[in-house]
Amino acid sequence: MQKIQAIRGMEDVLPDASPLWEKLEDTCRDVFRQYGYRNIRTPLVEPTPLFVRGIGEVTDIVEKEMYVFKDRNDESLALRPEATAGIVRSAIEHNFLYNGPMRVWTVGPMFRYERPQKGRQRQFHQFDVEALGFEGPDVDAEQIVMLARLWKALGIRNIELHINSIADSADRKAHREKLVAYFERHASILDEDAKRRLRTNPLRILDSKNPAMQAMIEDAPMLIDELGEGAQRHFEELKRLLTEAGLAFRVNPRIVRGLDYYNRTVFEWISPEIGAQSTIAGGGRYDALFEQLGGKPTPACGFAFGIERLVLAMQAAGAKAASEVAYFIAHSGDSASVLAFKLAESLRDKGNTVVLGTGGSFKSQLKKADASGARFTVIIGDNEVASRQVTLKDMRAGTQQVVSQETFINGKN
Ligand code: HAM
Repeated sequence: MQKIQAIRGMEDVLPDASPLWEKLEDTCRDVFRQYGYRNIRTPLVEPTPLFVRGIGEVTDIVEKEMYVFKDRNDESLALRPEATAGIVRSAIEHNFLYNGPMRVWTVGPMFRYERPQKGRQRQFHQFDVEALGFEGPDVDAEQIVMLARLWKALGIRNIELHINSIADSADRKAHREKLVAYFERHASILDEDAKRRLRTNPLRILDSKNPAMQAMIEDAPMLIDELGEGAQRHFEELKRLLTEAGLAFRVNPRIVRGLDYYNRTVFEWISPEIGAQSTIAGGGRYDALFEQLGGKPTPACGFAFGIERLVLAMQAAGAKAASEVAYFIAHSGDSASVLAFKLAESLRDKGNTVVLGTGGSFKSQLKKADASGARFTVIIGDNEVASRQVTLKDMRAGTQQVVSQETFINGKN
């Protein structure tokens, strides 16, 4: 029989890799809770029009990267490429902001048909965080500061904050005209995609990864020069709050983000240590998305980061997850294995993490004990059964002692 392999770009996270994932996930949950964020879970599959309307018809994600299929009822469905649109759909559908604004977060797999490389998968995992119903720049600043706290908790130091304002939709008209005029002057450099987008969504030309267009894109007119009074004030206040919080940031007018729903604040956290896919987190304000999806006007701000990229950054910072195994129990012989089984349960009653050896040769079980990172190894053979004792090995000190089973279970251990 031929072996079946995982789909390209969709990776297994194996047990050896998962301790860092778990450490990251636990830390995120703790930090988000500290800021009053509550968990929400939305489906992995949504009606395709949700993303077309939410993310924008003329974006890379919708045009080239979505997994779209028809179900048995001929309805067009999509695997979610991101979480924001689904969360906003849910907020409108259940009207869960009726009592006022709410902070929510979610975690899970997202799907984009991109060319796989280091830090870029077709199934990847995001933590996604949304502050729904908040208007002021204080929430934008709070989210950015919360991320800084998270990086610190994870031991990540080498990471840069880039912020920008991409104005309000009303301010965009003037920019759009300047942009179209600019691109028309450089029509000979535009590729097919860009020529098409010139009519439909010229801002998205700025996302192009085509190397031949990069220099021209660098010099294109910038949205930050078109800020209306409200957007300007919002951005100034955001910068003031970040400065007061002691956060270093760079205003980077080139950040436009790849999704159409943003306005005003956009930001990205970039790590120089994880390869070409260096953007770890990205987000911003999306004050018009609720209305675009059929809801009431509701200002909102959010961000997401990829777990795979954050794990790369943790590894670059030398992070290791400590083993939680307190006891590894090596045993040999029938009566020893029964005793080991009972002893393991007694130790777990006290809250310890206990791994039971497979029995058989002590040599190979001791190797396993070592690899498990256990603090102590308990050794039980025929001798120990007969003398009602256990041999306790301190894995850090390398010493061992024989103690009575009674003392071991009821004593300080
Ligand atoms: P995004 O910039 O498309 O934003 O994705 C956020 C993060 O997800 C990226 O910075 C990256 O870490 C990770 N990511 C994206 N694509 C891939 C991939 N193919 N492989 C691995 N990691 C990837 C959003 O998704 C917005 N929904 C963020 C947001 C929430 N804005 C407001 N609220």
